[in-house]
Amino acid sequence: MKRLATALLLVLCGIVPARAQTVADPIPIGIAVAQTSNIALFGQEQVNGAKVAEARINAAGGINGTKIALAFQDTGGDEAGAVNAFQNLINRDKVVAIIGPTLSQQAFAADPLANQAKVPVIAPSNTAKGIPQIGPFVSRVSAPMTQVAPHSLKQALRQNPGIKRVAVLYAQNDAFSASETEVFQQAVKDLGLETVTVQKFQTTDTDFTTQVTTVLGANVDLVVISGLAADSGNLVKQLRQLGYKGQIVGGNGLNSPNMFPVCGALCADTLVAQAYSPAAVEHNPVNKAFVAAFEQAYKKAPAQFSAQAYAAVQVVAEALAKVERDSGKKITSFELPQLREALNAALRTGPTLTPVGEIAILPSGEIDQKDFYVSKIVMQPDGTTGAFVLVTE
Ligand code: ALA
Repeated sequence: MKRLATALLLVLCGIVPARAQTVADPIPIGIAVAQTSNIALFGQEQVNGAKVAEARINAAGGINGTKIALAFQDTGGDEAGAVNAFQNLINRDKVVAIIGPTLSQQAFAADPLANQAKVPVIAPSNTAKGIPQIGPFVSRVSAPMTQVAPHSLKQALRQNPGIKRVAVLYAQNDAFSASETEVFQQAVKDLGLETVTVQKFQTTDTDFTTQVTTVLGANVDLVVISGLAADSGNLVKQLRQLGYKGQIVGGNGLNSPNMFPVCGALCADTLVAQAYSPAAVEHNPVNKAFVAAFEQAYKKAPAQFSAQAYAAVQVVAEALAKVERDSGKKITSFELPQLREALNAALRTGPTLTPVGEIAILPSGEIDQKDFYVSKIVMQPDGTTGAFVLVTE
């Protein structure tokens, strides 16, 4: 007792450094996504996908017998919420890694904190340019728009070779939307089309009369939208309500079935490029098992945000197993800072088969992904439910 008191005194006086805490059992993995705010349209799908991954990994024995436990922190839809969630996960919940946040806009604010604290971040849905460049502890499983977006424009042209004049609309207050529109505008140029008008809006806007009136006056054959969910959905709706009849291509913001009730029947025929398809199961047993487990849990097919969140938990679990294998030590015997560093390195090795296909995280933290899809939104007669239906390239 006396010896313990002396040791404590020495630690408190800073004479002997305190031993860093070991990793908790079950192994805590942070999930910092938007469970509230309008961004919860995406975040709820991420929660669902992550939970399916946790259940399947633990049912298969966890990390060589040690279970994982997801620690959820709601980021809301803004930067301050993401920063707060990251701080709680790093300092209070002592997680080994953070999966999140939902928006690139939030990532640019919150990821530097984790990077500074040497906590690995795996972005499950940040598709703006520059995410892995935030720092060496930041990686992503969400393919950047540079790789995904051009596919939908090519498909629009294949379907309608007469397309010449294009209107581009984007949310100017959102980092991802601003990044995606650059990619779209370059692709429009590369395909020999003409951008006739570029219209800006805010992600919080609900009335798009000004932008739609300009688009209608510009006599375009194609409208390309980069925004988040509710704004993109309302824009599609108002374009159709006010009489636009041409093709619409949506970006990653229109990638969620949670947006279908926003534009309702008027979502129909919008083309969206995607980094995931629940239909791509023939050569992908991991996706087949994921789709079955997801449908059993939620009575609907998974969409991209769910599949990417599953992939993020999966790559963390596989990297933890690799750390155990390579070190010959149980994860729970590691001191937390050492484990976080070892995990960050292990994340950046080798390709693995996930629901979104075979992916690898490159040493830079960028994802290497091969399979992309273009889908058309098909709405049911009820006008609120629908599906992304693959269109062949
Ligand atoms: N893909 C969107 C973003 O990066 C959700 O913000």
